[in-house]
Amino acid sequence: MQLFLCLLFLFGIIDSQIFAQVSVINLKCEHLENPIGIDEPHPRFTWQIESEKPGYAQTAYQLVVGTVQADVKAGNGNIWKSETLSGATIPVLYHGPELLPFTRYFWSVRIRDENGSWSDWSPAPFFETGMMSQTNWKGQWITDTHDYNLKPAPFFRKTFNTNKQIKSARAYIAVAGLYELFINGKRIGDHRLDPTYTRFDRRNLYVIYDVTENLHQGENAVGVLLGNGWYNHQSTAVWYFDKAPWRARPKFCMDLRVTYADGSVETIVTGPDWQTALSPVIFNSIYTAEHYDARLEQPGWDRPGFDAAEWRNAQATGAPSKNITAQVLHPIRNVTKIPAVEMIKQDERTWLFDFGRNMAGVTRIKVSGPEGTTLRLKHAERLGDDGRVDLSNIDLHYRPTDDSDPFQTDIFILSGNGEEEFMPRFNYKGFQYVEVTSDKPLELSRESLTAYFMHSDVPSVGNIHSSNTTLNKVWQAANASYLSNLFGYPTDCPQREKNGWTGDAHIAIETGLYNFDGITVYEKWLADHRDEQQPNGVLPAIIPTSGWGYHWANGPDWTSTIAIIPWNIYLFYGDTKILKENYDNIKRYVDYIDENYPSGITDWGLGDWVPVKSKTPKEFTSSAYYFVDATILAKTAKILGKNQDAEKYAKLANKIKSAVNYKYLNRETGMYGSGLQTELSVPLQWGLVPEELVGKVAKNLEQRVIADNSHIDVGLLGTKAILNALSENGYADLAYKVASQETYPSWGWWIVNGATTFYENWPLDAARDISMNHIMFGEINAWYYKALGGIFPDEAQPGFKNVILKPNFVPGLDHFEASHEGPYGTILSSWKKKRKNVEYRVSIPANATATIELPLLDLEKTTVLEGDTKIWDDNRFMRGVGGIYDVRKEDDRLVIKAGSGKYHFRVKNGG
Ligand code: BGC
Repeated sequence: MQLFLCLLFLFGIIDSQIFAQVSVINLKCEHLENPIGIDEPHPRFTWQIESEKPGYAQTAYQLVVGTVQADVKAGNGNIWKSETLSGATIPVLYHGPELLPFTRYFWSVRIRDENGSWSDWSPAPFFETGMMSQTNWKGQWITDTHDYNLKPAPFFRKTFNTNKQIKSARAYIAVAGLYELFINGKRIGDHRLDPTYTRFDRRNLYVIYDVTENLHQGENAVGVLLGNGWYNHQSTAVWYFDKAPWRARPKFCMDLRVTYADGSVETIVTGPDWQTALSPVIFNSIYTAEHYDARLEQPGWDRPGFDAAEWRNAQATGAPSKNITAQVLHPIRNVTKIPAVEMIKQDERTWLFDFGRNMAGVTRIKVSGPEGTTLRLKHAERLGDDGRVDLSNIDLHYRPTDDSDPFQTDIFILSGNGEEEFMPRFNYKGFQYVEVTSDKPLELSRESLTAYFMHSDVPSVGNIHSSNTTLNKVWQAANASYLSNLFGYPTDCPQREKNGWTGDAHIAIETGLYNFDGITVYEKWLADHRDEQQPNGVLPAIIPTSGWGYHWANGPDWTSTIAIIPWNIYLFYGDTKILKENYDNIKRYVDYIDENYPSGITDWGLGDWVPVKSKTPKEFTSSAYYFVDATILAKTAKILGKNQDAEKYAKLANKIKSAVNYKYLNRETGMYGSGLQTELSVPLQWGLVPEELVGKVAKNLEQRVIADNSHIDVGLLGTKAILNALSENGYADLAYKVASQETYPSWGWWIVNGATTFYENWPLDAARDISMNHIMFGEINAWYYKALGGIFPDEAQPGFKNVILKPNFVPGLDHFEASHEGPYGTILSSWKKKRKNVEYRVSIPANATATIELPLLDLEKTTVLEGDTKIWDDNRFMRGVGGIYDVRKEDDRLVIKAGSGKYHFRVKNGG
């Protein structure tokens, strides 16, 4: 048999890869699967390798791109065939001839292993280009002619005939405001609140749909319903979105590009020939709610044959900005359907629905009742003592001018035609409870109302499970708050503000990236940063903004997003694009602070926001963040080969460090300021402490925390640092003690008191800053991955090309497991204690390596096995197994270098 196979192989009848057993999977372009609407001239490709072989790494690869899928799959790209490129680092950029607009390209990759044998060509997914250039738009921007204060949302429609056979069709739709698109009576796509919010007078997003299946020979009708979103903010609140410079009646532009079987192309475009009328959406506000009068429905408005005699013509208008770019990200969706856990009928006209968890999203009601019955659906996070919904924790910044626009309250007027349904199209809220009131008696059941958890539908890439159930719930609650605050830009809270608060977002960036594949959303949000940055480098505190936030709260402790977000994306994805795109912006920002605060000390900022009790001087934390920015800038300059800048900003970082230490550090005692938790942990976390004093400062922090009864005494900036500063400096056990507290003040305290999302304040009965769905204290979730799972990206080989694994087997926890789906595949770190011994399982994806650091109780007496093979005994390295190629001792740790594969370590401490 063997001889037979050898012969087949020799004659090329069986390909080498059958023996290599490797497959190329998870192929993505621009970090998305089969994206439609790419405007990027050099799209990025990524893939993963599946191989059982330990220590697997491709040595070279080759890419092909073409327009015929079968050919590409066979390795024949008519557009581009790359050289054989060495290495295994992703992403890889397209470097073939200029890409054409409106074109579907297929791509495939094959890889070569260390023995020189090539794999098969991978499957051939596609990416499809969009407009590629503004000049390719054919349609005109259109609107109805109403004043922007008019409340009802407009419908638009157009019909067209075609007698030819349709091969393919795409809708390209750019909107200032929000929209829903319909063709022949069917809603297109499942995105919600599209396009995502941008600074409308600087940049507008367009969305592309494959509508081939929706069109047919004969007459077709296209319908569009426009919503206000942040473009035409009619509700009034303290951030003046109603005064936004861009504010106008919503408008849109659409090219419907139809390719016929005979190869000809026809584009149906927007123009004044479109017809418009007002819709049953009688009011819509992204901030407050939506009102719908079902009596005004016009059945068939989006189908051919509808009588539009009463409709009038749309008006052509100018584009909202000169920059119309493709929306390339995971869209917002109704991601999770959540039934009510309880319904209490309060009287004939009042019902209370409890969804059992706090969330961002909407509800859908199903109801029958007499024509004109008016229902109000009031959404709240909490109940008052009277058992009724209470909005007082979230409506305080709202400034209504009359009672026609109640906060978080949808209004639904029934048509009386049997069972009717309503779910808002152009709004979302933060809530757990909904109080439904009706002006006429009705029958409602628990099933009458359903909630939908909405957010940017970013794939989940992280998982945590442990023997501590409160820890597991803290992790879940942090994720629920993170997602509740991701709507194409990160927000502070989904109810009171929905603002893109910068500070909250950079504190939560690692929690976001360990758990969710968020690169596309952050790339978009950093473009928002570039749109908002003033020529002098200043950024606003909230992004996007209508102008508010350039004069308050926008110091480096908040707006360092410009440096911290790109840097973390680089660490997690190994992708330099975001660093390149934002380099000049980071530089302008740092230069501004340097010019205005030449001493290196700045008090520009807000400080340690919402602290438990102690107040760290804001000058201290702002200067620390200024140092962080200068450091990131210097490192980025080095990565991008800008050596002069690298030197210049490294010097600046040093200057800031010296200035902070000169002013705040007592070198004798190793104490910063008055020795508060934030004062000691922030410099440890961000590398401000002189090398020789790290031990002393860390010891002081330990003492401070113990004196604080092993509980936190920090605010927003301190929460980012406190647990990491302890666990990274030899006090992981204490860090875990603090992190797992269930008494006030702690994260666990919220959970044991019923929280399902993170709060904005520590006491449950605080008087202000009391949203119940803030992500700003969310760093603890990332800390689980880092300190307990030990999973860190390696700055020298980012994107988890080399994974650092240095778990802490902390007392009080018997089992902990963290996994993260990095760019190269799944990383697993899982440990279980058995008395003094620990079983530790690890997975490293192909094309990646790991540096594993195992803490040993007693090096002399400890034995470490991998599988059944001793790799450490008698204080020495025994032998390499599988993909392990180096084991050495560093202090009280065993440092193991390993290639990809699955490992099962047993650390025997003589127990
Ligand atoms: C927001 C916070 C934000 C803060 C800054 C609050 O209103 O909800 O999360 O960071 O303002 O001032």
